[in-house]
Amino acid sequence: MKPALLVATKGWDVESWARRIRPLLPDRPILCTDRAGIYHGADADLAEIHYILAWKPLQETLDRLPSLRVIFSLGAGVDHIFALTRLPDVPIVRIVDPDLTARMTEYVVWQVLHHQRLGPAYSAHQRERVWRDIDPPAAHQVSVGIMGLGVMGGSAARILVRLGFKVRSWTRSPKRMAGVESFHGAERFDAFLAGTDILVALLPLTPDTRGLIDLPLLRKLRRDGPLGGPILINAGRGGSHVEADIVAALRDGTLAGASLDVFQTEPLPADSPLWDLGNVVITPHVAAVSDPVALAGQIAGQIEAFERGEKLKNRVDPRRGY
Ligand SMILES: NC(=O)c1ccc[n+]([C@@H]2O[C@H](COP(=O)([O-])OP(=O)(O)OC[C@H]3O[C@@H](n4cnc5c(N)ncnc54)[C@H](OP(=O)(O)O)[C@@H]3O)[C@@H](O)[C@H]2O)c1
Repeated sequence: MKPALLVATKGWDVESWARRIRPLLPDRPILCTDRAGIYHGADADLAEIHYILAWKPLQETLDRLPSLRVIFSLGAGVDHIFALTRLPDVPIVRIVDPDLTARMTEYVVWQVLHHQRLGPAYSAHQRERVWRDIDPPAAHQVSVGIMGLGVMGGSAARILVRLGFKVRSWTRSPKRMAGVESFHGAERFDAFLAGTDILVALLPLTPDTRGLIDLPLLRKLRRDGPLGGPILINAGRGGSHVEADIVAALRDGTLAGASLDVFQTEPLPADSPLWDLGNVVITPHVAAVSDPVALAGQIAGQIEAFERGEKLKNRVDPRRGY
């Protein structure tokens, strides 16, 4: 038998991952937690585990894996792993996959076009049976500022450039991408914001990005753009924004609209004022879902390559936290 692996997901359908992985790695034990992330079997079985495929793994599960060699995050983000207090000194690998990237690109482009084409106004007119033309600005008149030009942000940026939007990016390190005006670091942040009509957040959640999108930041966005005020789209992590500030900004006109896929508390509580605000699109953290059908093959391939002595791809840098 080859080294065993554990699928440990909290809130996800564990078996849908195990079902896909088993035929790809047939000659090794594949154990699963329950839907709450708890493993009910013997410690002796866990002692054989070399690999964990994890989404929001429990600390007590990781603590029971003395032979662990690699942690595979089942999502692109790894904040759910760094949120733990004790991490074994093993590589952490995240998902980078065309399927996941395409899904996020669709979401971002969908929401940018929704606001640029005045979707909220036309939906309101339709509900009231009003026939009134209001001209949307052309894409080239709208500036989309993307915070985080990584795998996801980079892909969305390329499509938005093709559609004719003015695209700018803000990152930690310098970036160059055709058609994109790049800004990086704290010194250039205000200049980036000052020219942004639609702010797209595709940042990982780290100590540096936690609570970053607050009222003072939103007040620095371009106020005289063609959409009647700035728009916020957050598909990164809810921990990067301050929801009470977004509500205040929508109420006082600092923001003209928002599309939020991620929230400080998920599910978004039923009493959140966001549900009732006009010009807000709420989706339940589905911008880019990890599909086991698309992703299991990549993880199985990485495990086999690792055992052949090859380097793991898409390793996370623990010092950066992403
Ligand atoms: N809503 C969903 O369904 C969903 C699905 C998948 C992923 N996500 C989220 O999307 C995030 C991005 O994914 P990805 O694959 O594009 O990640 P990535 O390739 O690691 O890119 C992250 C980008 O953020 C920038 N960044 C990080 N910290 C920063 C800081 N303090 N200041 C400025 N820029 C900073 C990085 O800058 P450098 O290039 O300079 O390093 C990089 O450009 C994930 O971490 C996850 O949280 C959400």
